[in-house]
Amino acid sequence: MTLAQAKARHAELAAEIRRHDHLYYVLAQPAISDREYDARYRELLDLEQAHPELTTPDSPSQRVGGAPVSEFKSVRHAVPMMSLDNTYSAEEVREFVARVERLLPGEKLEWVVEPKVDGLAVSLRYEHGVLAVGCTRGDGTHGDDITANLKTIRSIPLRLGARGSGPAIVEIRGEVFMTKAGFKKLNAERAAAGEETFVNPRNSAAGSLKQLDPKLTAKRPLDMILYGLGEVRFGAPSTGSAGSTTEGRAEPVLGAPKTQLEMLTWLKSLGCKTPEKIWLCRSADELLEAIAALDKIRHNFAYETDGAVIKLNSFAQRERCGATAKAPRWAMAYKYAAEQAETKLNAITIQVGRTGALTPVAELEPVFVGGSTVGRATLHNEEELRRKDIRVGDTVVIEKAGEVIPAVVRVVTEKRTGKEHEFHFPKTCPECGSKISRESISGEEMVVWRCVNPDCPAKVRGRLEHWCSRGAMDIEGGGEVLVTQLVKAGLAHDVSDLYRLKLDAVAALERMGEKSAKNFLEGVEASKARDLWRLLFGLGILHVGAGVAKALAKAFPSLDDLAGCGQQQLAEVEDVGEVIAASVEQWFGDPDNRKLIERLRKAGLTFQSSTHNPAAKLGPFAGKTFVLTGTLPTLKREEAVAKIESLGGKVSGSVSKKTDYVVAGTEAGSKLDKAQQLGVKIIDEAELVRMTKSQ
Ligand code: IVH
Repeated sequence: MTLAQAKARHAELAAEIRRHDHLYYVLAQPAISDREYDARYRELLDLEQAHPELTTPDSPSQRVGGAPVSEFKSVRHAVPMMSLDNTYSAEEVREFVARVERLLPGEKLEWVVEPKVDGLAVSLRYEHGVLAVGCTRGDGTHGDDITANLKTIRSIPLRLGARGSGPAIVEIRGEVFMTKAGFKKLNAERAAAGEETFVNPRNSAAGSLKQLDPKLTAKRPLDMILYGLGEVRFGAPSTGSAGSTTEGRAEPVLGAPKTQLEMLTWLKSLGCKTPEKIWLCRSADELLEAIAALDKIRHNFAYETDGAVIKLNSFAQRERCGATAKAPRWAMAYKYAAEQAETKLNAITIQVGRTGALTPVAELEPVFVGGSTVGRATLHNEEELRRKDIRVGDTVVIEKAGEVIPAVVRVVTEKRTGKEHEFHFPKTCPECGSKISRESISGEEMVVWRCVNPDCPAKVRGRLEHWCSRGAMDIEGGGEVLVTQLVKAGLAHDVSDLYRLKLDAVAALERMGEKSAKNFLEGVEASKARDLWRLLFGLGILHVGAGVAKALAKAFPSLDDLAGCGQQQLAEVEDVGEVIAASVEQWFGDPDNRKLIERLRKAGLTFQSSTHNPAAKLGPFAGKTFVLTGTLPTLKREEAVAKIESLGGKVSGSVSKKTDYVVAGTEAGSKLDKAQQLGVKIIDEAELVRMTKSQ
């Protein structure tokens, strides 16, 4: 393929991928299968590998291309990002409308009501239609440059509409959030991997955007809705005065939308995701109706909302209203009362999970809140208990935090009678009386206490249940009820015992019967051939969730290959960091675990990975990243890439601190300079060939 042909094909593929991203992530109307999509994406990557000059910043491949950073750069907002004043009652909404009417005497006013998305405000700056900078709100005048992280959000267009159709400069603002379903799934995965869970979707979105490595952000189910503008400039960019803005004071520019409704339609036409439901209102009464209507349907939205935002529709009128130091005078947030209820905290119990984590749970006098009856609420950890000074017997305010998890918000101290008593967090495991300890990661003590006894009955039950669960070995019938009975009857202690169970013993358990016992044992038998990743996940190794287990099974052909690896080698596997690698090494280093593996082998488990990809095999270059620059004397670029990859190395398009070698040929450009600056080892073709031969 000639360069011109490659370029044409690349443009075609990029346009197609962009269109399908838009259909899938913005409109939720996918038109092709994942497979077909992947094939196009693969072809695009191959073309870019062969012709790196095709890799433009707005190429679909650049969504996860960003290198990790040590800190975020601070960027100044061309137009400040303001916040909104809040109201909590119908009366305050009427006062707000009357205030704006006084500011614009005699004018006809139109209002727009939008859902207030509970996420984080972000500004996206497009230059000539290409996403150039994305940043957080920060203090309103300066935010953090999180462009690489934002690029991983698939509903954010890397390029607006058709090239040249949009303004020279446009800052589009909106809210990044995590969907309720995405949050639940992420937390379930984290819990399964023995990791701490997030408190709500908003915190989870915030934590995801703060990642210094965009590859981590890419794994989080983030999304964004756009509802506002910052700087807008049509025509050639210049460094003079600002263009038309909605948040600041500036001159309107021809071609820019003149109302919120026009703007939302315009944003949609450029490929942006906008609020799915809005209301146009002409009076305070209509506003209140819209606010009530939104309250009725907002629980059905995919994301959490904490209110309604009321905005003047006309931008010209907004200009005339102006702003205070903190917020515009033309908009207001109406906050829905969080669904709260008061109830009595009867007791605090401690739940011991599969990983031995001790979680305090509030046992409440059942109370109806947010559409259901709540009798228990998590208290997260010891620190949370102390911070909120929660005592047994207290009257507490509970809330359906967001709508996802019931939480104890605070204690109603006025209602204390003196009979309440402090809860003493146990010093030993409440299940088995063993010692408990807290993990330290990089010298920092974690908040979760764990039971150290590997034979703790709670852990034993949890491990068996986890092994049988659908996401792991998928053994039908191996739920809480049966597992508890098996453990109680002394029939199972570790997962290898499941493979020695006899039909009559299982059938003799309470409420079992021959048929269900037979089904269960057939499931156990079938699980022997399950793929390596299921087994790895099922073993319940700390930090090894399903995703990490899949990555490991890709890198190793069988359990035995993996079990012999040290931390360093494990950390070379893509998606496996130091902490995970250490945890895996430690697990396999434990003689008890080794014995368990041998028992499983004897039972007939295959330990094989069907997803093992020899290309991802750990070669002598495993974990090493190369960058090629300039023309090499004999090897074509593709040949050099193939050589490096065949030995397990990676070839990247740009030089960073993580680059191990820069292979420089003649006419090497800025990459060579960068390598010198960063002190990255520079080699020539001869050296590369020597390295491949010596392996
Ligand atoms: S307009 C000049 N519209 O709420 C004000 N904000 O409490 C621009 N928010 O900082 C904001 N949904 O992070 C606007 N439909 C919406 C919103 C929204 C959520 C957030 C935004 C803002 C905060 C103010």
